[in-house]
Amino acid sequence: MAQRGKFISFEGIDGAGKSTHIAFVQQYLASYDMQIVSTREPGGTPLGEALRQLLLHEKMHLETEALLMFAARREHIAQVIEPALTRGEWVISDRFTDASFAYQGGGRHLDLTKLSALEQWVHPHLQPDLTFLFDVPLAVARARLDATRALDKFEQEDADFFANTRAEYLRRAAEFPERFRVIDSTQSIETIQAQLQTHLRALAASTCQAE
Ligand code: TMP
Repeated sequence: MAQRGKFISFEGIDGAGKSTHIAFVQQYLASYDMQIVSTREPGGTPLGEALRQLLLHEKMHLETEALLMFAARREHIAQVIEPALTRGEWVISDRFTDASFAYQGGGRHLDLTKLSALEQWVHPHLQPDLTFLFDVPLAVARARLDATRALDKFEQEDADFFANTRAEYLRRAAEFPERFRVIDSTQSIETIQAQLQTHLRALAASTCQAE
């Protein structure tokens, strides 16, 4: 049986610059002939992508929003994440449950115990092996949002929402230091890429030692 793969999630407020770095990590791991599955939340399955459209564009009660995020996640874990990890592939996910704590919990003030209950229900034993949190001041994130396209429901939120979202991300990073790596996303691309490589090599080395 193949050794279980690793699960890496990428987080940060909108405009933190995650997409560029995800593309780099994909290329970097592929250059070592690693089998990777690149996916995203909300989304990653046909049902999840349909829910994404609703979540990003329709107004809804904050608890409906949280429940749909976790419904999409349940499908994502069952259809994509667990099968890939079992095959020994590495899963790179653009967001996972930390985003629910940050956005629905921090940004929208949904009771964190409700989110913990959903997390316990949907994935009691699964957590990312590594979570990169790309952190930037709000003003920098706002300036980076693509001015050429219409902003989605979350991107249109105000500064308070993003301040609270960022604060909850940082609180979780402090609570789970063993898996979080906070990357100062105002640094140059080269500096960030060097840091990503260091963390990925450490994760790959821990895999080899465990064999
Ligand atoms: P993306 O634009 O980075 O792909 O993320 C989609 C949006 O969905 C982003 O604004 C964050 C938000 N989101 C939540 O509010 N809760 C969640 O659990 C997830 C996964 C994303």
